[in-house]
Amino acid sequence: MTDFHTHLLPGMDDGSDSVSTSLLMLDMWRSQGIDQVIATPHFYAEYTTPERFLRQRAKAREELTEVLTEGETYPTLRYGAEVRFFDGISGTEVLPSLCLEGTRLLLLEMPFVRWTERMLGEVEEIRMRGIRPVIAHLERYIDFNPKKLLRRLMEMDVFIQCNAEFFLSRRTSRQALRLLEEDRIHFLGSDAHNTTSRPPNLGQALELIEKKLGRRAIDRLLDLEKLTGVDSEAVRP
Ligand SMILES: [Fe+2]
Repeated sequence: MTDFHTHLLPGMDDGSDSVSTSLLMLDMWRSQGIDQVIATPHFYAEYTTPERFLRQRAKAREELTEVLTEGETYPTLRYGAEVRFFDGISGTEVLPSLCLEGTRLLLLEMPFVRWTERMLGEVEEIRMRGIRPVIAHLERYIDFNPKKLLRRLMEMDVFIQCNAEFFLSRRTSRQALRLLEEDRIHFLGSDAHNTTSRPPNLGQALELIEKKLGRRAIDRLLDLEKLTGVDSEAVRP
């Protein structure tokens, strides 16, 4: 099982603050049976450039890899970014370099305001450029948008990622399970930032899903390794 959305890399953003925190987070994933973790540090176009971001990510990745103990089994690590929407994002040349490595999947964080036509249009434009947006934590936009706008986004040719917390919170659990049953959710993530207030908790969500909907609901989620076609093509910036 893959955790599609995490802030595991040390010192990159408001996620893991050190390699020792990252190691503890990896232990938590391992004990929950998560065998693949995608590191998706925040990318904010107003604060950094893709080049700088990718340099920092490579450095943090190296720091973490160095402290992994030989002979131990860890979840497989892959690298991407959680890219915050910005005006003009669809025309940005370097967008492919921010995709999950080896794919054309872009984890996209939408604005936390009511979406405009222009914003939705840009999401469509990204798709037309051959990049498939994966909308990060869909549940976090529900309070800002009427149902019809959320539906419109979901009906575009995009993938939807939801956080474990959406399933684990009593307030939203039923809604999360319903969307999963309707095949509206394609990837799950913990959006883990640390080991305490926002820990890796995907294993708990999977247990709950299995209890409520059966194993089949989990098996229907997208498997990165099985994606074919444009999404899994290597990206050449
Ligand atoms: Fe995140």
